[in-house]
Amino acid sequence: MEGLREKLTEYFEWFHRHPELSYEEYETTNKIREILLEAGVEILPCELKTGLVAVIRGEKKGPVQALRCDIDALPIGEESGLSYASECEGKMHACGHDFHIVSGIGCAILLNEKKEELSGTVKIIFQPAEESSLGALKILETDVMEDVERIWGLHADPTNEAGVLGIREGYVTAAVDRFIIKIKGVGCHGAHPDDGIDPIPVAAAVVQALQTIVTRNINAFHPSLISVTRIQAGNTWNVIPETAELEGTVRTMDKKDRELFEKKLAEIAKHTAAAFGAEAEINWIAGPPATYNDGEMVIHSMKTADKCGFSVVPEESSMGGDDFAFFEEKIPGCYIKVGTGKGQLIHQPGFKVDESVILPTAEYLAELMFDSLSASCI
Ligand code: NI
Repeated sequence: MEGLREKLTEYFEWFHRHPELSYEEYETTNKIREILLEAGVEILPCELKTGLVAVIRGEKKGPVQALRCDIDALPIGEESGLSYASECEGKMHACGHDFHIVSGIGCAILLNEKKEELSGTVKIIFQPAEESSLGALKILETDVMEDVERIWGLHADPTNEAGVLGIREGYVTAAVDRFIIKIKGVGCHGAHPDDGIDPIPVAAAVVQALQTIVTRNINAFHPSLISVTRIQAGNTWNVIPETAELEGTVRTMDKKDRELFEKKLAEIAKHTAAAFGAEAEINWIAGPPATYNDGEMVIHSMKTADKCGFSVVPEESSMGGDDFAFFEEKIPGCYIKVGTGKGQLIHQPGFKVDESVILPTAEYLAELMFDSLSASCI
């Protein structure tokens, strides 16, 4: 389509200049709506505060599939030096979701022009709040996914050059769980620890013991980890506090490991605390499960990559997470990493996307949606 490259680049720069945080993507949503309506793309009526769903109904019969594009930004002050850098202080599209938005828009525009030939329906989900790790649930609370039989997703990848896709079969990102452990002892004077129950050595013992879950309880061939990222107790030098708090994250790939981890973490915290005469209260906050790439969809994504002139490298799995996995609890999915030029990693203030990759990515996605429906491999 003539002029599409220029248009998508212009849209991309607009989204990059106007980043909005999770659940606040109002301007972003309005802009996506405006662009899609102008291009004659249908938008599904659905009750989302932010985010929206476009639909392309093929004139030939076929199944319904979805493409997920997340749209939110991060609370990071941009230091990219780009002429179109963020105009919102302290906020930045540092995870490339602006690139995901325009790839989805481009895909919608291209597919819309081929809908007489399209065998089935494609829903393009502009999803809010991926960075909160729970935004996908906003989509799942609507009826948008009810008839969808499989879902595709993409992510910008600054570890690969433009023109390279990272694709792997099986687990791609980990399940993301968060925990808070509150240890309750008995506060007292720092000079008289025997009058109380000091929660600080209890917290230290719990931190040490938690690491043994990975090395002593989980199969050594299964990736898993625990990071205690916050430890807080007391506020002065001569008072033993009453409580200590630990917080952190657990990452697993396997569903059974995830359940085991939750159980062992609670047991270790409770019993370790009890051994010192203290108590532990555990708050386990479950995030998205692991993302898993379906074998047949992976084959499709690779074939189309070849056809569109992309080269494919095997993607390494990551202990990071993506709420894309919530969709995959219901239907098969495939999550593709798109090389956006080597540079600063995502979530860094100097992260950049090579603009030359925008149009080819939109074309690739449109081709992938089209071909996978034609092949009717559902
Ligand atoms: Ni991201």
